[in-house]
Amino acid sequence: MTKTALVTGILGQDGPYLAKLLLSKGYRVYGLIRRYSNPNFSNLDFVGVTDEVDYVEGDMNDEASLLNLIRTIRPTEVYNLAAQSFVKSSFDQAKLTTEVNSLGPLYLLNAIKYFSPTTRYYQASTSEMFGLQHTNGYQDEKTPFHPRSPYGVSKVYAYWITVNYRESYGLFTANGILFNHESPIRGKQFVTRKVTDGVAKIKLGLAKEIRLGNLDARRDWGFAGDYVEAMYLMLQQKESNDFVVGTGESHTVRELVELAFKSVGIDDWKKYVVIDPQYKRPAEVPNLRAKPDKAFKLLKWKPKMTFDKLIKTMVEADLERNKKKTT
Ligand code: NAP
Ligand code: GDD
Repeated sequence: MTKTALVTGILGQDGPYLAKLLLSKGYRVYGLIRRYSNPNFSNLDFVGVTDEVDYVEGDMNDEASLLNLIRTIRPTEVYNLAAQSFVKSSFDQAKLTTEVNSLGPLYLLNAIKYFSPTTRYYQASTSEMFGLQHTNGYQDEKTPFHPRSPYGVSKVYAYWITVNYRESYGLFTANGILFNHESPIRGKQFVTRKVTDGVAKIKLGLAKEIRLGNLDARRDWGFAGDYVEAMYLMLQQKESNDFVVGTGESHTVRELVELAFKSVGIDDWKKYVVIDPQYKRPAEVPNLRAKPDKAFKLLKWKPKMTFDKLIKTMVEADLERNKKKTT
């Protein structure tokens, strides 16, 4: 029997990498997209799977659309990647963020409970749930949550409803508590891509500066292509479980900036960076570093791409894309 997967958030960053992985394993992949006059398939084009995905229409805010999809497709697995995922916007659009990120998962879980209880469910949980909390400088599955944004709060609800439907109804549900992961198709608002795109533009003479917020924040940055493998592995386990996924290394935004400029031969990066308060957050998450021992042991998963390689790869991709604008 062909395995089937419904992937929400298929047009985002992780969706295309996950679709590619599942297709390579012989899955039929259904990708949920919202109703658009002109949907943007550029991320799927980048990984080369646009024509291999079956697109289905629905919205995380529309319960009936999700009930109907689960009832008709009855997928082997659901990967719920859809979210209002930009932390900064969640402070200004808290209600929308909560509806998509908290109620959306509830709708999917209810649909699975009523119409397809053997479907396995992956919830895209996040290190943002830890916020201020850490255990000796790192976060693992036992670290308590103290979210610092409406985004983080919304994801804590989704985390617990995912656990609750496992405990209450015996559904196979898994939370992947993923730390920051990036790629050449990362949204340009997120700091890595903002920096790599900005550096490429400066190198090519298309821009003069990059405006940034807090350079002291530390993140555990990995490669999205590695992290979707962990998502897949979580749904192949005997028992459903929750896993922290990260590299175990953390770097400041300042280090990221320095590395990106260095990769194009610019050492005096301070000339090009302007600190702009509009990019600071009302409450910051200062330090995220994963202790992914459980994933290493039970999933036998390991990140393959280093931080240096990741940033260099992103800068190179942005140089290529921006070069087209100069010709
Ligand atoms: P992303 O690039 O922002 O993609 C999110 C996707 O969600 C977009 O395709 C968006 O659709 C879709 N979406 C938003 N609202 C929707 C709605 N109402 N109905 C249907 N779809 C909707 O995010 P990502 O980086 O791929 O992350 C995937 C998931 O992992 C998210 O849930 C995120 O919160 C979580 N996560 C990400 C990271 C990370 O570092 N990347 C770390 C931990 C957890 P449109 O294209 O139509 O806008
Ligand atoms: N976006 C952005 N823009 N961030 C900046 C800037 C800037 O100009 N200047 C400094 N930063 C800092 C932010 O304050 C934050 O501390 C850090 O850079 C990373 O910001 P983002 O790249 O926006 O990511 P995030 O850590 O807030 O959230 C991402 O990772 C989470 C997992 O920890 C998102 O992908 C979330 O969806 C995900 O859950």
